[in-house]
Amino acid sequence: MKSEKLSAFPKDFLWGASTAAYQVEGGITNDWSEWEQKNAERLSRTWKKEFPNLREELQKMAKDPKNYISGNACDHFHRYEEDFDLMKSLGINSYRFSIEWARVEPEEGKFSDEALAHYKKVVQALTKRNIRPIVTLWHFTLPIWIRDQGLWESKKTGEYFLRYAEKVVQALSPDVQFWVTLNEPEIYGGMAYLTALWPPQKRSVFRYLRARKNLISAHKKAYFLIKKISPNAKVGIAQNNVLMEPYKNKLINRILCAMYHYWGNESFLWRIRGTFDFYGLNFYLRSQIHIFWGKNHIKEKSSDMNWELSPESIYPLLKNFQKFGKPIYILENGLADAADTHRAWYIRSILKYVEKAIQEGIDVRGYFYWSLLDNFEWDKGFWPRFGLIEIDYKNNLQRTIRKSAYEYAKIIKEYSEFP
Ligand code: FCB
Repeated sequence: MKSEKLSAFPKDFLWGASTAAYQVEGGITNDWSEWEQKNAERLSRTWKKEFPNLREELQKMAKDPKNYISGNACDHFHRYEEDFDLMKSLGINSYRFSIEWARVEPEEGKFSDEALAHYKKVVQALTKRNIRPIVTLWHFTLPIWIRDQGLWESKKTGEYFLRYAEKVVQALSPDVQFWVTLNEPEIYGGMAYLTALWPPQKRSVFRYLRARKNLISAHKKAYFLIKKISPNAKVGIAQNNVLMEPYKNKLINRILCAMYHYWGNESFLWRIRGTFDFYGLNFYLRSQIHIFWGKNHIKEKSSDMNWELSPESIYPLLKNFQKFGKPIYILENGLADAADTHRAWYIRSILKYVEKAIQEGIDVRGYFYWSLLDNFEWDKGFWPRFGLIEIDYKNNLQRTIRKSAYEYAKIIKEYSEFP
């Protein structure tokens, strides 16, 4: 319908989808693959505490230790051409994916030409289809030899990261013009060292701060390195953003909110200011803040992971990040929705708020749905179904485009037809 067109979107807006290597490629040995082997049994026993009302068919998966072993994942490593054809058929014009460090440098200082050649082919396969690649250099996982030297807690990891980044950027430039150095470093730090639910599961504020410092410094140095190799490249970071709202708008909650917002959403960015050309805003949640708790606010609709679906929350976040004066790309946004009940509504709604932001002059240049494919969702394993494309894990990893993905395709078309 003409009246529903989102005409504010610029012509060169990136209509995208995201993935991360470890979550879709399959066949990877790294710090996480070793961790999951040791933890799968435990996770298959403990999921119920967090998800007591999980849908019946998903429960079957959650109870099975195999759910927590990434194994072949979606075998995207071998089937990327097929996946890109599907993506193309939906009108998606940009793909954000990550490079697996453990493939590129399986042993300290030994780089795999084969792995680099593989990623080169991936980039060429995208370019051939007129799909713009956005490449993330680090998305949570590390080679085992780095784990053994202390992960991001070790200063040396920053040096190793630069050496690795140099190889990758040299191999993939100039076909890749958009680089994301790190994905959600503050989520990684929190999950690894504060909640300690992710490897290395070492609860310690001290370790957390040390890792954070090394990540900040790695980003900054990588920024200059990438610009040196590829002066026209755009370099940014992807950060998770939670919209914090004060419970009952009480003063104390408002103060806490401001503090959490600063610490969770902004402080990393202030530390790296001057070294990003765009801001990658990942958005999933809003949180109600009360003096004694912070919780996921559940309104009317929620995802299979009990994440509240509040598309309107993107708008204040976009408004907030305008102050950094850089273009914003929404590099991740999506929901686990196995029955595909809410996804189409959610995408359409969130894009209405993005449009509103653009109309008000906020420089938003891309939207990337998470995820292109059903994926391995870290310590939750395979049961959360985020994909625009469904993966049949029992039947040869067969791909089926979900109805909501056709809806996304329709939206893209509407906006592109009525610029
Ligand atoms: C983000 C991660 C991504 C995926 C989504 C659901 O925080 O970057 O890998 O797990 O959440």
